[in-house]
Amino acid sequence: MVLKNPVIAASGTFSFGAEYARVYDVSCLGGICTKGLTLHPRRGNPPPRLWETPCGLLNSIGLENPGVETFLREELPRMRDLGTVVIANIWGETPEEYGELAERLSGSGVDAIELNLSCPNVPGIGLLGGSAKGTAWAVRVARAACGEPLWVKLPPEGDVLGAARAAEKEGAEAISAANTFRGLAIDIATGRPVFANTFGGLSGPAIKPLALRLVYELSQAVSIPVIGIGGIASWEDALEFIMAGAHAVQVGTANFIDPLCAPRIIRGLEVFLKERGIETWEGIRGCAH
Ligand SMILES: Cc1cc2nc3c(=O)[nH]c(=O)nc-3n(C[C@H](O)[C@H](O)[C@H](O)COP(=O)(O)O)c2cc1C
Repeated sequence: MVLKNPVIAASGTFSFGAEYARVYDVSCLGGICTKGLTLHPRRGNPPPRLWETPCGLLNSIGLENPGVETFLREELPRMRDLGTVVIANIWGETPEEYGELAERLSGSGVDAIELNLSCPNVPGIGLLGGSAKGTAWAVRVARAACGEPLWVKLPPEGDVLGAARAAEKEGAEAISAANTFRGLAIDIATGRPVFANTFGGLSGPAIKPLALRLVYELSQAVSIPVIGIGGIASWEDALEFIMAGAHAVQVGTANFIDPLCAPRIIRGLEVFLKERGIETWEGIRGCAH
């Protein structure tokens, strides 16, 4: 699968692209990952859902989304018109649900399917991607259900390297690393967690060095592409991930701070390549190893 550039909008921070398309021409993006889709619509968690922390953001959205059927009927045709690659991010409560979702999306016109194997803010299994066994199970079921490229998005905790190797063995085309870190905030007035489901997912610049370390390790542990995610807010951040071994990057929380940050990162990377007379990323990718 070839992207026009290595910068993708991360799931849950770009909705289905329409709001950002009013701000800039999103066809410049390498791709857009949809909000996590589930078999049935979900209302998400009660507020508060966002909690700012130093250099980071805790979220407890609870996978609010219109469900896969509404996505296919209403959102996907609009997304196809945005002029870039569409990656459907999916979340199942069981491995079998990943198979059902992949089957529904099969042949629909999405360019790839990203299995989100963790969600720190919903109760239930939530952390399939934390083990090689859980990951292998979900990827196997999804692989059997569709022919689209499968990207496997892992949590940053647990046996990440084992899970990535298992995903590769079961036929995943890429590893997206990573989702948010489980975090906690406590309201000192009440003495209770601020979020109804206790934990939230930490994202933003605070997690960048942690995510970068993961990508550095993962890109040496598997031979499929690794997509770096975590705290990327500038072209220099993105370049660090490529130097750590990433084939592409996803930009998440930074979209909330500066909606134009993704096109800025794309431009910055282009200028970097041009100024150094470099034709492809191959000479640079993983140079930090
Ligand atoms: C508000 C919010 C909602 C998110 N929803 C999803 C989701 O539905 N599916 C998913 O795989 N990741 C989701 N994520 C995780 C991001 O895609 C990304 O992996 C994470 O935020 C780390 O990247 P960042 O530091 O650039 O934000 C969400 C993140 C945020 C902040």
